[in-house]
Amino acid sequence: MGWNLEALEKRLTGKVIGQPLYYYPEIGSTNDEAFRLGVAGAPEGTAVIADSQTKGRGRLQRVWHSPPGSNIYTSILLRPNFSPDLAPRISIAAGVAVAEILSTYCPGLVELKWPNDVLLNRKKVCGILAQMKASASDIDFVVLGMGINVNINDKQLPPDIRTIATSLAIETGQEIDRQELIISLYENIAKWYKELIQRGFDAIKEKWLNLSPMIGKKVQVMFRDEGVSGKALGLDDDGSLIILSLNGETVKVFAGDATIVKER
Ligand code: BTN
Repeated sequence: MGWNLEALEKRLTGKVIGQPLYYYPEIGSTNDEAFRLGVAGAPEGTAVIADSQTKGRGRLQRVWHSPPGSNIYTSILLRPNFSPDLAPRISIAAGVAVAEILSTYCPGLVELKWPNDVLLNRKKVCGILAQMKASASDIDFVVLGMGINVNINDKQLPPDIRTIATSLAIETGQEIDRQELIISLYENIAKWYKELIQRGFDAIKEKWLNLSPMIGKKVQVMFRDEGVSGKALGLDDDGSLIILSLNGETVKVFAGDATIVKER
């Protein structure tokens, strides 16, 4: 099912996120475009959607597989009025918002993996890439990029990620309407963003912890060549993961890939 831009714009009229909306059948990366728009002064709520990306990027310099006709690739521009070191709260909130929406399609099967991978049946279904332009004390803007595997099938997934990635269609056996999904997604991100701005991080953190099977388990976090192992204790107020390391020290981890270590 393709995008119906006119209908989409109509449905997003008056909403916090999705106005203005920029749509591209093909683009390098929606994050780059949203960043460019941010620098040019575009307002909060600006959204970029592409049907495909030729330079889709993931965290830690990875490639985000972005073929046409099946998935969601979108970036939204936010201009929060808080200190840059609290910016990771936004991507944590986005993870919660995505997980909540995907749970409506697959109840009970959606989980979050720190920092903000969304898993379906233990496989990755969505990745979030946040980028920021800020001074030492103020955020100018944050670009929140989300890639959701919606209708891609098993054979279209690159072989190297087939065992660790999935899509909504693979797990439900049904084709999903991307347009309806993105409308409810934008609405839910707006809801959690408002919660963050008006009331702070507590409710987001609680929801995140409920959706994260990692807490209380032994984990390993790898960042480039370095690893930290220990018990995941929780999520700190700046979005970092708190780990009780093997030598008994409490450490905070700000970036990397966390996996649960299987106990034998
Ligand atoms: C990750 O899990 O590593 C993050 C993946 C983020 C992918 C999305 S797709 C839309 C936006 N544009 C990009 O180039 N990346 C993000």
